[in-house]
Amino acid sequence: MVEQRFFFNKDALVIKGPKKSHALRMFMLAAVMICGVYICSVCLTQLGIQSRPRKLKMEIMEAPCKNPAIPYYEIPYVHYPEPNTYSRDECACTPVRFFSIVSMQRSGSGWFETLLNSHVNISSNGEIFSSKERRGNISAIIRALDKVYNLDWYSSAAKNDCTAAVGLKWMLNQGLMENHVKVAKYFSRRGVSLIFLFRRNLLRRLVSQLANDHDRNTKQLNGTHKAHVHSTNEANILARYKPRINTSELISTLRHTHKFITDAMGHFRNTRHIVLYYEDLVQNRTKLMDVLEFLRVPPRKLVSRHVKIHTRPLPKLVENWDDVYRSLEGTEYRSFLNANYDL
Ligand SMILES: *[C@@H]1O[C@H](CO)[C@@H](O)[C@H](O)[C@H]1NC(C)=O
Ligand SMILES: *[C@@H]1O[C@H](CO)[C@@H](O)[C@H](O)[C@H]1NC(C)=O
Ligand SMILES: *[C@@H]1O[C@H](CO)[C@@H](O)[C@H](O)[C@H]1NC(C)=O
Ligand SMILES: *[C@@H]1O[C@H](CO)[C@@H](O)[C@H](O)[C@H]1NC(C)=O
Ligand SMILES: *[C@@H]1O[C@H](CO)[C@@H](O)[C@H](O)[C@H]1NC(C)=O
Repeated sequence: MVEQRFFFNKDALVIKGPKKSHALRMFMLAAVMICGVYICSVCLTQLGIQSRPRKLKMEIMEAPCKNPAIPYYEIPYVHYPEPNTYSRDECACTPVRFFSIVSMQRSGSGWFETLLNSHVNISSNGEIFSSKERRGNISAIIRALDKVYNLDWYSSAAKNDCTAAVGLKWMLNQGLMENHVKVAKYFSRRGVSLIFLFRRNLLRRLVSQLANDHDRNTKQLNGTHKAHVHSTNEANILARYKPRINTSELISTLRHTHKFITDAMGHFRNTRHIVLYYEDLVQNRTKLMDVLEFLRVPPRKLVSRHVKIHTRPLPKLVENWDDVYRSLEGTEYRSFLNANYDL
């Protein structure tokens, strides 16, 4: 402390003139050196004290759920949620993947989601954003997503404790496209993977949509509207209605739908994703195993009680088929006319 007092003593620093001896100069130099070494050593000690507990804290936070089998590039997609409403108990260290099915109405996503939910380790919570309030603004959207991914969402699909993949079904027109920039940021921050599910034949999708709209108004099944059915009897009743398609806006409708899909895939191209087409899944159920692999859940046979409504060839499903044929013949959408009749 003697050296310090000397160093900060104003009088000592202003000493000048011929009386300043060589000895005093040497003494000051020594004092500065000692002081420097002292400050340096204090700094080092403090650094040492600080860095040790920081390392300890990291270990404490990671240790309970460390899984060396997970490769480093997968780490952003592996989560260990801690629900507010219950304890995951023995499954607390079961890694959980976050996903969202991104689709459009009448594209097989209802069927697809029941298939996923037949897997013991998958919880897909349905169209949570069909509620206008939940999708009204980005903060409401994020609050809902956080609840799903924290395993706190209550739905019939929620398996909670040993869930290894949790998600929802999000239609493009349910606030996803309007908020795509912030949602993409959220997906990247939370390590969410996307399952795009679209229909190749947009004409068949349109037929399904018109028939579904019709049933919403007429409620053909004993006075209740059903978007999906579980028996061939019900399917046959719904398939009896043949919509009439307004051909003057057919091309622009198809073009608009097509653009909506390509825009969506563009907005989320940097999010980890898989692209599925309904027709491919119907023709080749093995494609479902690609989805399980994508979600990193064990392979398993998936089942659904959904029964397909429109199984007949397209010409038999549309009231004014000849008009429709004439308007699409020779256009970029002509392939929709001749697509496989089973789809
Ligand atoms: C967002 O929506 C929620 C639910 O509708 C509402 O309570 C909240 O005030 C809205 N926030 C903003 C910033 O508009
Ligand atoms: C799947 O769920 C079962 C039943 O809850 C559980 O025993 C199993 O550990 C889970 N598997 C994975 C990979 O999470
Ligand atoms: C309508 O209700 C009757 C009597 O409950 C039942 O037998 C019939 O199967 C129902 N039909 C459909 C299409 O659900
Ligand atoms: C078909 O669409 C056109 C253009 O939107 C509209 O003017 C016309 O009224 C529609 N026709 C029918 C029968 O709905
Ligand atoms: C069915 O899908 C699987 C998985 O994507 C693929 O390996 C296989 O080649 C497909 N089979 C046919 C007949 O396309």
